[in-house]
Amino acid sequence: MKLKGKIALITGATSGIGKATAQLLHQEGAQVVITGRNKETVESTAKEIGGNTIGIVSDAGKMTDIMTLASQLKQYVSHLDIVFINAGFGKYAPLEYIDEVHYNEMFDTIVRGTLFTVQQVLPLMSNNGAIILNTSIVTEVGMQNSSVYSAAKAAVQSFTKTFAAELISKGIRVNAVSPGPIQTNYFDRSNLSKEQVEQFTTSFAPQVPIQRFGLPSEVAEAVLFLASDASSFIVGAEISVDGGFPKIKTT
Ligand SMILES: NC(=O)c1ccc[n+]([C@@H]2O[C@H](COP(=O)([O-])OP(=O)(O)OC[C@H]3O[C@@H](n4cnc5c(N)ncnc54)[C@H](OP(=O)(O)O)[C@@H]3O)[C@@H](O)[C@H]2O)c1
Repeated sequence: MKLKGKIALITGATSGIGKATAQLLHQEGAQVVITGRNKETVESTAKEIGGNTIGIVSDAGKMTDIMTLASQLKQYVSHLDIVFINAGFGKYAPLEYIDEVHYNEMFDTIVRGTLFTVQQVLPLMSNNGAIILNTSIVTEVGMQNSSVYSAAKAAVQSFTKTFAAELISKGIRVNAVSPGPIQTNYFDRSNLSKEQVEQFTTSFAPQVPIQRFGLPSEVAEAVLFLASDASSFIVGAEISVDGGFPKIKTT
């Protein structure tokens, strides 16, 4: 058990990458606290993960929820050793169709949500702590219709280094995982139609050198590594979990 005795907060953990990470960290001995926006799925996921898993309904896109998260956490746990800031979703639109709602939705959840969640949980962090942020391959490659989501994730990529520089003196290591295309509810929850999602996924898979989408559990393994003492000398880094896309070409 790599995380015996540790306490971990994973935001946005009712499905996909967050849920797989919560399950893995729990298996490795951590007490896990998960968040999500929907009471039913938060409760059922906490129950499914089992043990002493705690579910808190909290919207990473709402300042009121972020500002009360620490006091909610204190009702259940004394401190946090691991924080995985994962809550998020993607919205896509060509440049000429982007409006303020689209912009605010992405930046409120991904940028403001990441910044203020870290700020608010910081007083709870132990001095051998690990914070892991979730970026994306979209920071490395220009993808159509992705201006706002990519810019928001680029801000998170920047936070990885600046937070790491600020927090290392407190004994907290900040790193990130950068997932490629991963099989989750992400695409279904975007604003893309069913047909667009199908077209995107069938045309994207062959472009990934490993010839498939990744599994949420494959990202969870990278988070586990960054959360554990196995990565004790790794600070301000971003681990790509992307099957080689877009770094290598096989044709
Ligand atoms: N899948 C990919 O290909 C991919 C690639 C790169 C990066 N990512 C990133 O990975 C993260 C997780 O996405 P996923 O692929 O695992 O998608 P997912 O299966 O849709 O899971 C997203 C999770 O986040 C929660 N969530 C969404 N918005 C939230 C908010 N404002 N506050 C709290 N919880 C929220 C969702 O629950 P509720 O909706 O019930 O709140 C759900 O539990 C996101 O940050 C995404 O940008 C995904």
